[in-house]
Parts: sequence; C-alpha cells; structure tokens
Amino acid sequence: MVVPYSAEPATDFTKEENKKAFKDALEQVKKDFGVKRPLIIGGEHIETDDQITSYNPSNKEEVIGHVSKATTEHIDSAMEAAEKAFETWSEWDPKDRAELFIRVAAIIRRRKHEFSALMVYEAGKPWNEADGDTNEGIDFIEYYARSMMELADGKPTLDREGEHNHYFYQPMGPGVTISPWNFPFAIMTGTTAAPVIAGNTVLLKPAEDTPLIAYKLMEVLEEAGLPKGVVNFVTGDPAEIGDYMVDHHKTHFITFTGSKATGLRINKRAAEVQEGQDFLKRVITEMGGKDTIIVDKDADLDLAADSIVNSAFGFSGQKCSAGSRAVIHKDVYDEVLAKSIELTKELTVGNPVDETYMGPVINKKQFDKISEYIETGKKEGKLEIGGETDDSTGYFIKPTIFSGLDPKAVIMQEEIFGPVVAFAKAEDFDEMLEIANNTEYGLTGAVITNTRENWILACRKFNVGNLYLNRGCTAAVVGYHPFGGFKMSGTDQKTGSPDYMLNFLEQKVVSEMF
Ligand code: NAD
Ligand code: ALA
Repeated sequence: MVVPYSAEPATDFTKEENKKAFKDALEQVKKDFGVKRPLIIGGEHIETDDQITSYNPSNKEEVIGHVSKATTEHIDSAMEAAEKAFETWSEWDPKDRAELFIRVAAIIRRRKHEFSALMVYEAGKPWNEADGDTNEGIDFIEYYARSMMELADGKPTLDREGEHNHYFYQPMGPGVTISPWNFPFAIMTGTTAAPVIAGNTVLLKPAEDTPLIAYKLMEVLEEAGLPKGVVNFVTGDPAEIGDYMVDHHKTHFITFTGSKATGLRINKRAAEVQEGQDFLKRVITEMGGKDTIIVDKDADLDLAADSIVNSAFGFSGQKCSAGSRAVIHKDVYDEVLAKSIELTKELTVGNPVDETYMGPVINKKQFDKISEYIETGKKEGKLEIGGETDDSTGYFIKPTIFSGLDPKAVIMQEEIFGPVVAFAKAEDFDEMLEIANNTEYGLTGAVITNTRENWILACRKFNVGNLYLNRGCTAAVVGYHPFGGFKMSGTDQKTGSPDYMLNFLEQKVVSEMF
C-alpha cells in the first residue's frame, strides 16, 4: 500500500541549514566539471570520439561536461535494445513497474540538491527554479506510478447474462522521448517515466544544452535496478538523429516538448507510415505559448503587478507558460504599469550561483533571438525598463517591459522565450478577452479580477488549457494543475493528469461467453 500522492515541498532557502546544504551541493557538483558521459544502449556504456560539450550559460567558457554523440547506427542499436527489453518489461506486473519507480523517486529525493545544483550551472537556473524543477521531476514519477497502479487491473465494464467482459490496458512498444532544455529535469523525467511505467521502452534524447542533468536520471535508473534496454540514452545532434528517430519504423510513440517548428515537423513525419511499420504512431507535443495576464478595473493592483512580474521574469521568461503579455483595463493601466516597473527594479540579474532572482538565458542563439525581439519592441512600443543585454561572460538580459503595444504587434504575437513582457490597454473586459485569444497559441493565462461574472465569462471564453484566477500563469503543480494547451501550443495531452498514462497504453477488451 503506497501513501497517497502529494507534491514535493519547495526547499525553504530562508533557513540557514537549507542554504548551507545547497551551497555544499554547488561545490560538490563542480568536482565533476569536465566529465565525459557515454551513451547507454541496452545497458552498455558507449563513448564516441565525437562529443557534445555542455557549457555554463552564466560563464560561457566554463565547460560543465561532455556527452557522446549518437549516430543513426546507434539509434538502430538502441531501437533493437528497446525492442528486446520490451519483451520482458511489458510482462512485468504494472504494480511492480510502478514500485520500481517509487524507488527511483526516493533516490532522487535523497540527492535532490545535487540535481538542482547541477541545473544552476548547466541551465542557468536560480536556486528556487532549480529546486522546483527537481521537485517536479519527483512529482511526475510519484504521480504516474500511482496512476499506473490504479489502471493495473483495467476499468469496470458491464457484464450480462452468460457474458463476462474485461476492459484493460497494455503497453505499445518502443518509443522516443525528445525533451527540452528549459525544464531539463522535470519534463525529461516526466516524459520518460510515464511511457516506461506504462510498460513501454524508450530512446531518450535530451536537449543538447542540458544533457548532463539527463544523465543523472540514467544513473538513478541504473541504481534502482531498471532492466537494461528499458531506457536508452542517446544524446546527439538533432540534425543527424532527430528525423531518424521519429521516422524509425519501430517507433510507436514520440513524446516531444520544444519549439512549434520542431513539433509540427515531428507531427507531420510521424504520420507517414514507413516500410515495415504496421501501426500508427502516437505523437504527444508541447510546443509553447504566448500567455496573457488580464487585469480588470476592480482588481487588486498589487497582486496584478506581482503576478505579471513573476510570470514574465521567473527563469528569465524561458517557460512555455511565461506571461509575456499584460492586457490591462484602461482605468488601471497606468497604475499597474507603474507598480510592475517598481517591482522589476528590485530584481537581481547575474550568475544564479550567487542567489540572483534571474540568471542568464540558455545560449547564444536564444540571446540573439531575444535581443532582436527587444529591438522590435523598441519600434513597436515604449521601452519602460530593461532592454540591456550583455554577453561578455554569460548570456544576460535585463527584465524588460514594453508598454503601449498594439494587440497585433510582433512582440504581442510571437513567442519570445525571454524576459520580455508587453503591455496593452483595453477598453473593457470583452476586449481583454478578445486580445487574450488573438494569438495562435492557447497554453496558459490568468485573470486578475474581483468580479465573479467576469471570471465565469473568462472560464468559458479565455481559450487556454490552463487558466488561473488571481495569481500568475506559471507554476502548474503535478496532480493539482494538469498541464497542456490548445491550438498551436500542442496536442493537449495534459501532463500530471489522471489521463496522461493513457497516451502510452492500448485499451483492450476481452469478452467471454459462459
Ligand atoms: P527545439 O524544438 O529545436 O528543441 C527541443 C528538442 O527537440 C531538443 O531535444 C532538440 O534536440 C530536439 N529536436 C530539434 N530538432 C529536431 C528534429 N528535427 N527531430 C527531432 N528532435 C529535434 O527548440 P530549441 O531550439 O531548443 O528552442 C527554440 C525555441 O523553442 C525557443 O525559443 C522556444 O520558443 C521553444 N521552446 C519551447 C519549449 C517549451 O517548453 N514548449 C522548450 C524549449 C524551447
Ligand atoms: N509546467 C510549467 C508551468 O506551469 C511549464 O510553469
């Protein structure tokens, strides 16, 4: 009997003992800098000559470590290993698979600061964001393990005179997990653990900016006794192996989180039936957002400013859920803008090792892309605060607010994935909703209001997968806020939801006549 699920508590860094433990972990993980991590295929550790180097985005000369670069031949071997492992892993009692993963979660929990500290260096995460990332990874495992236990015996269906029916679930086969750098532990872990707990086997290809934190999961899976070949670690260049993994005729499912461009490409390629493939591939994509906070005329304006600032600038806005648009009723627009600017002035930016509020953005490509959006913003609106960028040591961008935007402006429409928020004014609540819905995305949103009717209206009309009242639009918690979006935000298979495991299971009915 396992205890009921509850989310992992955030570490309280105001407590001296926690602070010290985290500082010790930051020192400890540095000892591994420069390490070389192999591919893991069928349990075999394979080091290639060709390597990917992972750098610290706060200090771009600092090498965190190296990983091997898989070729298409490695993908073939990994797929073979996954197929072989599937024969036995899929036969395990689902409860035994779930229990093994509860052990995995326990090991991570014991080493949690080590994982978070590595993300401070490898992903540029501030302490609290790194801690949240590790905790969310643990939550995904704990939650999916319990979901599988509940599904293990199938679901009730009707019997009738002379007939007994059994409705149950079975795994599909090998599949592919392609994960992003922005939640390099949580999303990578959740999208690996769910299919595997369901009884499938996986080729895990983490983002090339954050492969070392993904290797930590592999260490734990090995320690916990996961059979060889169930998860195969295939770091590599997506241009070389990405399409190949998606197209592979033995790939049964692809679970992907990242850009819209890559998500659409995967979706299209996966629809093509390959020679030797006698099933349809399932695709689960999470492709981002252009998320809006709307502020009503009777709102708590301090709460509004706080929600806008933290949703826009937490982890430098590098969340698909980040609030990158603030749409404010004309009567309170000036006040909310002024309060948001004041709060933004207090934010610290720098190397997150030093407990800053914001660290760097992930890499040169993102730094350049966000810098370009800032230039666009200067033409489209008024720069109120921020706008400065500095890539002399790391990729730092100051939290930036633009005001006076037309709802159709580029920075009101395109996903920036950086610390930039655009303010727009609206005449009334209807117009606020209209603006909120005017992008191609539909992931998260928030409404700050004290008018119940407006909240009820927003519940029906604000077209996003995750809508929040009187709080920011980030920080969904596994099991409490199932997460995923509509429209171009993805396929809306909500992570951390009671239905998520079904994405990785076939549903079977056995009907017996007496
Ligand atoms: P990306 O889509 O290129 O990368 C995400 C993952 O997909 C990585 O693991 C990458 O290696 C892999 N990938 C890339 N091309 C592939 C292909 N052809 N086949 C298979 N896998 C492939 O995203 P990025 O370049 O890391 O970031 C660019 C933009 O993506 C960001 O500016 C942001 O808008 C968006 N993004 C969104 C999320 C999210 O949470 N939805 C996360 C990261 C990035
Ligand atoms: N699940 C993450 C959030 O809600 C992306 O912020």
